[in-house]
Parts: sequence; structure tokens; C-alpha cells
Amino acid sequence: MDTQSATIEQAVSALRRGECVGLPTETVYGLAADARNVQAIARVFALKGRPLAHPLIVHIPDGDCLDEWAVEIPEAARRLAAGFWPGPLTLVLRRHPSVLDAVTGSQPTVALRVPAHPLAGSVLAAFGGGLVAPSANRFGRVSPTTAAHVRAEFGDALPIVLDGGASAIGIESSIVDLSGDTPRLLRPGMLSPTAIEHLLGATLARGAQVNSPRVPGSLASHYAPRTPTYWIDGGADPEALHAGARAHALQRPAVMVMDALPPGMAGRAMPADAQDYARVLYATLRELDQGVFDGILVAAPPDTAAWLAIRDRLRRACAR
Ligand code: TXA
Ligand code: MG
Repeated sequence: MDTQSATIEQAVSALRRGECVGLPTETVYGLAADARNVQAIARVFALKGRPLAHPLIVHIPDGDCLDEWAVEIPEAARRLAAGFWPGPLTLVLRRHPSVLDAVTGSQPTVALRVPAHPLAGSVLAAFGGGLVAPSANRFGRVSPTTAAHVRAEFGDALPIVLDGGASAIGIESSIVDLSGDTPRLLRPGMLSPTAIEHLLGATLARGAQVNSPRVPGSLASHYAPRTPTYWIDGGADPEALHAGARAHALQRPAVMVMDALPPGMAGRAMPADAQDYARVLYATLRELDQGVFDGILVAAPPDTAAWLAIRDRLRRACAR
């Protein structure tokens, strides 16, 4: 935390004036704005450089507010809300008629979440309404997990950034679509799909369907560092990393490995635990993306349930 950081009162009055605010959440930092104010939402899209049709998540103070934003709410949604909110779960439901088209991308659904970070909770409670908050990065770039990352993205264009320390989870919320006949996991997060299915009493279909709402996270090149980033299967073996560097003709590769750095190679040794890995993933990508290296070689984490969301984000970082 630092002295430049704004207070909750400053943040709330800026939000009431229709301005954008950098807001810490437990997943990543959000670019928050009043979800009932068309001009405020237009500023979010302009700041991010995000295509207008892409829908935003509305952050609400608590699950009791669900009915202000959604209709025909299934019992399953109430169970998930009761079980996981506040927390890293976003529910896609049928929108209430009052929800702005600018929020939903004119779709018949709305995405809702109650964040678990105490500062976000205080801001939402004091503001008393819903806040859109896409990740506070320019479109297509790595999401921020510290206030410093947010300042690096927007500088003076975003004077008010609340500093809530490093995000505890580190990657974006799980998105579950309950607006149709089949519950569907649109974006995996660190909440285990098995835990969601347990409360749901049903199996989650995976991935977006044709004609289903657009999820920018499903664009191949989302979450990408500027430095070319490559997925290396079998990257626990130093020889696979050296072969990757040769194959992509890298002069100064950085590696992200889950063990000690191989002799003679630069980069980062990553935590072997999935929660710990997720927490430092985006900060690590940002550090390795400072222009020192001409490529980033990512040793593929295990293909197990615990690593599902991390593998998803790393795949996207490697897509181009
Ligand atoms: O953890 C998070 O969810 C973070 C923090 C700040 O809360 N926010 C976040 O927002 O990741 P953003 O805008 O970067 O991603 C929101 C995702 C997008 O992929 C968007 O397409 C999807 O939510 N989304 C929003 N509304 C939707 C809807 N009605 N139907 C389907 N997907 C929707
Ligand atoms: Mg994002």
C-alpha cells in the first residue's frame, strides 16, 4: 500500500460523479464505474479500448440485491450465491429490464458478482448500487493484481486508484451461466468446478456455445504479454526448454518453470501449488514482459483439475 492511494470516500464520490475508479478485488483489480450511468460506462470502454459489444460484470454489495438486476432467477443461482458470495464466482442470469444495454452488450442476460475484498465491499456498501468493473487493463492485455499495475496501465487517465494490496486469488472469477436450460462454465476460475457442481446438484457444461453470449476471455489472444509467449509441453525437462528456445530462434528467452531455473536460463521459478501459482501468475508475466527478453517459455503445468483455470490463462497468453 502507498501514500498516493485514494480513500474510500474519494472513490465513492468520484463514482457518484460518473467517474472511473481503480478498485481492488480478491481476483484482480477492476476498473469500476456506476452500472446505472451510461456516460460512466462509456468512459470504461474508452479507457480500456474495449469493443463496445463486450458485456461487463456488475458487482453488487450482496446477494439480496440479485432481484434488482435479474429476473426468473433459478433456485440454483440462490444456492450458489449463498454458498460462494462474497467470492470469485460470477453468475450469468436473465437481465432485469432496468439493466442498461451498455452493460449487457444488448444481450438478454447480465453477469453478477459480489467481490470478497474488504475495500470493494466498503465501496459497494457506501455507494449502495451496482458497479461495472472489468479488469483494469487495456483491452487484450494482462490483468492487474496490484494498484501499481493499474497505474502502469492508465497513468493520469485514472487519478483514483484504491490500493488494497496484491489480489489474494490472482486470476479472474469463474463465470457460470444459469440463464439457459443447462448450467455452463463460461470461464474457469480458481473456484473448483466440482465444488460448484456439488452445490448446483448438476454437471456443468463447459465452454461457450454457438450463439451464446460473447466472452472476450474466449478470444484466443486475450491476457497476452507483448513479448511472444510459448507453451512448452514437458517443460519440467530443461532440454525441452532449450529446444523451445532454439525452435523459436530466441536469443534471450525467459522461462517460467515450476522447479528451480535450469542452469544457464533466466526467468522465474513458479510455486508448485496451484493457488500460489495463480496469485503470482499475472505479476510474473508483467515482470518478464519489460522488454529484457525476446520470448517467454512457459513450462505447461499439470493437466489436472486444480490447474484448469491457470492452464486456460496460460494458453491464452501463448495464443496469437
Ligand atoms: O474476477 C473478475 O471477474 C474481474 C474482477 C474485477 O471482478 N472482472 C473481470 O471482468 O474479469 P472482465 O470484464 O475483464 O471480464 C468479464 C467477463 C467477460 O469475459 C465478459 O464477456 C463476461 O464476463 N460477461 C459479462 N457479461 C456477460 C453476459 N451477460 N454473458 C456472458 N458473459 C458475460
Ligand atoms: Mg479482463
